[in-house]
Amino acid sequence: MTQQVFRGAIIGFGFISGKGHFPAYQSRKDTEIVAVADICPARRQAALALNPKLRVYDSAEKLFDAEKNLDFVDISTPPVDHGSIAQAALARGLHVLCEKPLTATLPEARELLLAANRARRVVFPCHNYKHAPVVKTVDEIIASGEIGKVHGLTLNTYRNTHAKGVQEWRTDWRRDKKTSGGGIAMDHGSHTFYLTFNWLKALPTAVTAKMVTINKEWDTEDNFSCVLTFPTGYANAHLTWTAGVRKVIYTIQGSQGAITIDDDDIQVASPTGVRKFSIASHWGDASHVGWFNSMFDQFRDCVRRGEYVNSELKEAYHCVQLIHRAYESSNDGSREVQLDTSFSFL
Ligand SMILES: NC(=O)c1ccc[n+]([C@@H]2O[C@H](COP(=O)([O-])OP(=O)(O)OC[C@H]3O[C@@H](n4cnc5c(N)ncnc54)[C@H](O)[C@@H]3O)[C@@H](O)[C@H]2O)c1
Repeated sequence: MTQQVFRGAIIGFGFISGKGHFPAYQSRKDTEIVAVADICPARRQAALALNPKLRVYDSAEKLFDAEKNLDFVDISTPPVDHGSIAQAALARGLHVLCEKPLTATLPEARELLLAANRARRVVFPCHNYKHAPVVKTVDEIIASGEIGKVHGLTLNTYRNTHAKGVQEWRTDWRRDKKTSGGGIAMDHGSHTFYLTFNWLKALPTAVTAKMVTINKEWDTEDNFSCVLTFPTGYANAHLTWTAGVRKVIYTIQGSQGAITIDDDDIQVASPTGVRKFSIASHWGDASHVGWFNSMFDQFRDCVRRGEYVNSELKEAYHCVQLIHRAYESSNDGSREVQLDTSFSFL
């Protein structure tokens, strides 16, 4: 039996969709991107240069009004527009794949979960770090029981600058709060946070945080540290845009051993000794094109199974809550702030 092609449109044809999502879609037989909306004329041209058959629009609204045969939309604009574009897509009966963070504000995130439920359409966040080969390998090591029960994490994300958007639009939008919604915690916090949920097998119940802005030219933080309390342990996270180097260093501490990740290099210490090996994950390629299809398969599975408010979406909501509660903590002398894990609004 032949499977029907899943038809999609991309809203925001910038760095991540141009270099990460679109080439991955082109490699798939089950999915076709038929239209693109971007407010920047040069980015619409960039899309047409990759596929002249695309129908292009200068706004999401015009695309939604004209395209009647879509199955899903891929939202790759800056965060402040994620919520409204996702709502417009759901109102037209489309499934939604949305870049992180899910939304820039917590009320928008809550409304999106409610709307996905009402519309019976999937909303799925791009939590692509879970699909890095190194992370998948570490998940398997944890599941094997080699390091015992995980109770502690440190996650350090080092960058030598804020991530840049495409040159043709506003390359420094991540440092401008009205477009980004916040600094490095808003931009990158989701990746750190959902990995902690994954490895500690729970949602955190409290956060204490500190933001620092070293480069005072901008109104968003470039350094962010926090401690998260879980029913199963704790996590310590540091995110910086001023590290002078680009890399991730994570440690996972268990009851009988530990794992250290330094980009592609993994070290596992357990009662049987220490082993070191590498898994090519291409951390340096910020498009993470090689991780996309595994994540997109998960999105498609949710669509097939009708998992509208799926576990990834709930995690995305919790990430947005965490980002805002962490900002609250930092603004109040790093006071510990409680997190709601109940989803009682659903
Ligand atoms: N998951 C990841 O690893 C990863 C990596 C990079 C970026 N991202 C996310 O992707 C999103 C975009 O980031 P980017 O680096 O590609 O930015 P970018 O600046 O390169 O691209 C944004 C594009 O959106 C367009 N745009 C802006 N507002 C729009 C609107 N209202 N309607 C239509 N088009 C609009 C701009 O013209 C631009 O082409 C952000 O949410 C970011 O956090 C995720």
